Amino acid sequence: MDTIVSTATSLQGEITVPGDKSISHRAVMIGAISDGVTEITGFLGAADPLSTLSCINSLGIDHTIDREKLLIYGKGLYGLQKSATVLDAGNSGTTIRLLSGILAGQKFSTTISGDQYLMKRPMKRIIDPLTKMGARISATENLTAPLTIDGKYPLTAIDYELPIASAQVKSAILLAGLYADGITRVIEKETSRDHTERMLGLHSEHLNGRNIITVTGGKKISAHHFAVPGDPSSAAFFIVAGLIVPNSHIVIHDVGLNSTRTGFLSVLRQMNASIHIENERTIGGEVIGDVVVRSSELISNITLEGNIIPNIIDEIPILSVSAVFSSGTFTVRNAGDLRNKETDRIAALCSNLRTMGLDVNEYEDGFAFESKNKLVAGTFDSFDDHRIAMAFGIAALVLNGESKILNAECVSISFPSFWETILSLQ
Ligand code: S3P
Repeated sequence: MDTIVSTATSLQGEITVPGDKSISHRAVMIGAISDGVTEITGFLGAADPLSTLSCINSLGIDHTIDREKLLIYGKGLYGLQKSATVLDAGNSGTTIRLLSGILAGQKFSTTISGDQYLMKRPMKRIIDPLTKMGARISATENLTAPLTIDGKYPLTAIDYELPIASAQVKSAILLAGLYADGITRVIEKETSRDHTERMLGLHSEHLNGRNIITVTGGKKISAHHFAVPGDPSSAAFFIVAGLIVPNSHIVIHDVGLNSTRTGFLSVLRQMNASIHIENERTIGGEVIGDVVVRSSELISNITLEGNIIPNIIDEIPILSVSAVFSSGTFTVRNAGDLRNKETDRIAALCSNLRTMGLDVNEYEDGFAFESKNKLVAGTFDSFDDHRIAMAFGIAALVLNGESKILNAECVSISFPSFWETILSLQ
């Protein structure tokens, strides 16, 4: 399905965005290996977390939906059963990588696969540490899915310094650490999202510029109530929309504001954005608040590189769009892992930015461009990547004329009601 988006003269209104994708995945997985019934409110019922739910169902864990609550009938750390079928992680990197950590500690073997895009994404990053812990994992020649994970119990506890900044790799090792014969430590030089350690109540310390997260094997998990906040990565699209569409005023309620996720707000504020947080509070260990946005004259001249990259990794597409409608230059470096996302996001961004008339320099680890006045509406390829579709859907609101977003239905991965939400603000 392609979607046509026309120029908007103003966006006004109060909205909520769907639940946090990272937290939804983790709530289901942690619920499955907890003792008792885990209650999840605000669960993101989008394709990616639903892949996680269907995988844990195949591993013998039931769920029910009771009004707004998702209930996961956990069977404890040792209660998963061998799946009769190959697990299907769909498009979801978080499903395959985090679940691999749990599967590494099982006494049975599991094969997990996914769609054509997931099968191209690198898995060496989890195969290496999980193999060190004692699991046997076979993959394709290119170290991509399908993965067959021959679990081992107990696994060997390890100290592991992450060679790349990745919350998915960190989380896979921490989940495997629950099945290890001692204390597993994950050391990260750059801070990545910390939901796993918060939700498991793990010890985390900041020492000599590194985060060290510790998990003790055999630590039983009792069932929790997880209240999933609105996804800041989804809110980011409407925050930028409110800034770049003239005469706009948008309030987004109940957005997750965990500091490992809100680097994009600091970047936008540096660009002179009018963004205010109201009603800030902490629910279930996560800070949430209402984000109030007004149209702003954005000024970029900004280089995003170094330690901030893991914090803004999912927001780089929409931050790029904010820079298109600012004055100045915009450079992203040290972000080579963007090439390993749902699509090669560096190539996808450069291609779509050029379609609107920008001169873009592409680097192996980023890209750079200078904003300019004469831009054109056009046909933007989503490359079947939800965040590319949404970023250019927002850009199309400011370009003069009608734009077309190809295969726009891929927003169902994280934000199924995205196109309706745009209309509701017009
Ligand atoms: C995620 C971590 C990030 C992010 C992804 C979700 C998570 O991936 O891009 O959308 O839930 O842990 P990496 O760990 O590969 O950076």
